Parts: sequence; C-alpha cells; structure tokens
Amino acid sequence: NRQPIVAIDGPAGAGKSTVTRRVAQELGLIYLDTGAMYRALTWRVMSANIDIDDEPAIAEIVSQSEISLVESNDGVQVWIDEEEVTKEIRSLEVTANVSAIAALATVRRELVKQQQRWGAKGGIVAEGRDIGTFVFPDAELKIFLTASVEERARRRWQDIKEQKQGDMSLEQLEKDIQQRDLRDSTRAIAPLRKAGDAIEIKTDGMSISEVTERIVNLYHQKG
Ligand code: C5P
Repeated sequence: NRQPIVAIDGPAGAGKSTVTRRVAQELGLIYLDTGAMYRALTWRVMSANIDIDDEPAIAEIVSQSEISLVESNDGVQVWIDEEEVTKEIRSLEVTANVSAIAALATVRRELVKQQQRWGAKGGIVAEGRDIGTFVFPDAELKIFLTASVEERARRRWQDIKEQKQGDMSLEQLEKDIQQRDLRDSTRAIAPLRKAGDAIEIKTDGMSISEVTERIVNLYHQKG
C-alpha cells in the first residue's frame, strides 16, 4: 500500500525538469530527478580522470559513491560523497558524456535500485528516460513529454545564454541533442521509449504553466 507515483519521461530538453518540479510542488509530492544521478556519477568519473570506456573502473566508482538529492530553499542540491555538484553536473562536458555512462549495465543496475528504494513508499514525481517503462512500471500516471528538436535546441540555447555557460550555436545544440537522443533510445538496457500506457504531450508552443496544468489535471482525473 503506497502513495501514488507520477512518471515523466522524454528526450533531452523537452522541459522535463522545470515541469516535473512544478507538478511535484502543486501535488505536494516529492520530486525525483534521476538524470541528476547519472550526471553526478559522470562528474565523479570525469573528475577522477577515468576513461569513459573503462567499465571496471566505473563499476568500482558506482559501488563506492553515495549520491544524495537534498531539498533546499533554492531547489534540489545534488551531492556525491562529500561534494556538492549541483552546478557542475550541468556543464557541457558532463552533458556530452553522460549518455555513454548511463548506458553501462552496472551503472543502471545500481542507480535504478536506489531510485526504487527511494520510491518504495510512493508519493513522488520521478523524471527520466525509463521511469514509466522500467523503474516504476506500475506508476499511476505516466507522461511522455516531447517537443521538436528545433524547439528543444532553442530552449537549451536560451538557458545557456542566461546562465552564461558559454557560446554555442543553435546548429551545434541541435546536433548534440539529436546525438544524445539517439544514444539514449538505442542503448541495450532500458532505452528511452514511450511506455504503452503513457500519455504523450507535445510541448511545442506550450508554456511551462500550460504543461504543468495539463499534467496536474490528468492526475486529478485519474484519482
Ligand atoms: O534528464 P537529463 O538530461 O538530466 O539526463 C541526462 C542523461 O542521463 C540522459 O541523457 C540519459 O543518458 C541519462 N538518463 C538515463 N535514465 C534516466 C535519466 C537520465 O539514462 N532515467
């Protein structure tokens, strides 16, 4: 007997993070950003100068590291072991390498186990690539958030500009997003894909509030 679970999956840059955070807030549920966990681990691997092809060394790191997501006044803080890496995990470097690391069997086994432990009592809105298909297949509400690659690249470009993360052309961002989607949707284990019972929302031209409201309404309709 557990509390409800909402699963929100979709490709890179579809607005999942902002929307999921808002949905969790409005429904009074806990927000679980599973991408942040794969990113934190990627950051750790890179900062330890381990080659991203060195699976045994990465497996070692996975088994030894502890990732925590801590609610704070200005959002969720991401920690790995004794280090706070909330900002670091959003860097272009981590973003470029995370899909390769997230494809490894040992990495997924360990992080999924942790996610399922955190979600065992329910009462969460979890965001990722394989939540509805794999992590919480019995979630009460499953959403698949998408948008055209052009729209997603434009949103990423805005973010990068606002956060002064550097200078990236729209064309380059489109290429990067497409490559990450390809890697995430063609990997052997738990690839990105819409669950059969997920509701797809195409967010082109929709505001964050509109998308949030749509999901909150769907949740109440299900209840
Ligand atoms: O959602 P975000 O862009 O932060 O996710 C970063 C990467 O982590 C994804 O591109 C994917 O490779 C991986 N990921 C995953 N499974 C999840 C969440 C994220 O493989 N549930």
